[in-house]
Amino acid sequence: MLPAVIDALPQAPERGRAFLDDRRPPTPCLVIDLDTVRESHTRLREALPEARLYYAVKANPAPEIVRQLARAGAGFDVAGREEIELCLDQGARPETISYGNTVKKARDVLFAFKVGVRRFTFDSAADLANLAEHAPGSTVSCRILVDSSGSRTPFGQKFGCVPDMAVELLVRAAELGLDPEGVAFHVGSQHLDPHAWDAGIAAAAEVTRAVAERGVLLRGLNIGGGLPGRYRDEPLPLSAYVSAIRESVGRHFAVPPDLAFEPGRALVADAGVIRSEVVLVSRKADTDERRWVYLDIGRYGGMAETENEAIAYRLATAHDGTPDGPAIIAGPTCDGDDVLYQRTPYRLPLALRAGDYVDILSTGAYTQSYSSVSFNGFPPLKTYFVGGEPDEVGEFAGRHVLAEFSGVSPKLLNDAAFLCESLERALDKAGATVCDMTFKQFEPQGVTVLALLSESHASIHSYPERGSVFVDVFTCGRRADPELAVQLLRDMLGASVAITNTIHRGQEDR
Ligand SMILES: Cc1ncc(COP(=O)(O)O)c(C=O)c1O
Repeated sequence: MLPAVIDALPQAPERGRAFLDDRRPPTPCLVIDLDTVRESHTRLREALPEARLYYAVKANPAPEIVRQLARAGAGFDVAGREEIELCLDQGARPETISYGNTVKKARDVLFAFKVGVRRFTFDSAADLANLAEHAPGSTVSCRILVDSSGSRTPFGQKFGCVPDMAVELLVRAAELGLDPEGVAFHVGSQHLDPHAWDAGIAAAAEVTRAVAERGVLLRGLNIGGGLPGRYRDEPLPLSAYVSAIRESVGRHFAVPPDLAFEPGRALVADAGVIRSEVVLVSRKADTDERRWVYLDIGRYGGMAETENEAIAYRLATAHDGTPDGPAIIAGPTCDGDDVLYQRTPYRLPLALRAGDYVDILSTGAYTQSYSSVSFNGFPPLKTYFVGGEPDEVGEFAGRHVLAEFSGVSPKLLNDAAFLCESLERALDKAGATVCDMTFKQFEPQGVTVLALLSESHASIHSYPERGSVFVDVFTCGRRADPELAVQLLRDMLGASVAITNTIHRGQEDR
């Protein structure tokens, strides 16, 4: 792809702001332009075609984003069970998922392995043992510690181990029957220096050589995230980063490794715009030059990355171009820390008044999922979506299985706990995701169990006096198998007779 195309600037603020002007939803709110997400994905893929791309779901876990990216063929870097379920629910295949968090519960590894995830990153002997036990034979990378202090949001010492330890652990991984793929590292998020990846790539090449001397051949290199979004400090064009990375890999590795990268911010930041409203403009003294501008969004409403003023967002108002003056920008809560910018010099129009909008640009990453559930009574940040491919028939389409089992023990049919547990287990084994479950025990007998699924719903109504039970399982999409759920439930209840009927919804020729 030509650099001019790779480096094209996203259109999101215009499309997102047009939506906000037209629809005027209550503020604060975030608008994500799914077309920009898709364009960013295409640009990144074409800029670094030799690398597998795993979207770091952490950056924005909105199902709409994950769905678009799954359809576009992206892979996913996930932190745990919930993000795995999210990706699978949105159509990702397990083999495109990389479990990149080095801090994992054994049961989450087990879950990942059970649903087919086979790629993991680790940075410790204990987690390696965890993987060997619960994800046998899987492909693993060892994350090394790199200096991320040059990034806007560094990781400190939390992730990775020193290269010498990585050598030992990767050799041990092979001894444990795992498939050691290579080294992973992350330069810290929002890195503006295109040469920031060089030290990690050099260290990874050293580890790869040392491991080879011990008879284990690594083939991969995961260069993590760190590619920047467009905030007040404008990044260089994308082509500058990928050329520096490619050049560095060529210089340090004798044999080109299979590259992988995990962009989060670079995929979604520029796709978002937050519209906020000015609540109050004031001064602390008549002589103060700087005004305090209080918005209806703050640190706890999704602007978490303004902590230490790490990320300085670009702002836009309807008064732009008119005379301005210095401003301290703060959030709406009664918390003293809820100040967005007091050291970073911001100027806002002097005409700005309560009720005016302030649009916060490139806010698609690390915002909505950071917003608190109700700190000081403020609700979480609402997201609207524009653009994107319309949902395919496949996701609407589903199977509705209606069944009646007879010959079931009346005792079991009056046991609400047993029925709930059986339904949940059957649904789980059949690939459905239970979001919520409730039941009602009737007098003198009979139980109703209702399950809300990511894919739709399921229910049981028992008639102990007749030894029968009615079951209905409806799932949309292709992942869950409602017929299997019904069959498993029949086995669990020990029914002698079953009458089942399957209705296909949204599928042709049925
Ligand atoms: C393991 C891992 N990979 C990728 C990312 C995404 O980084 P970025 O948003 O800087 O691209 C993160 C974010 O912190 C991460 O922890």
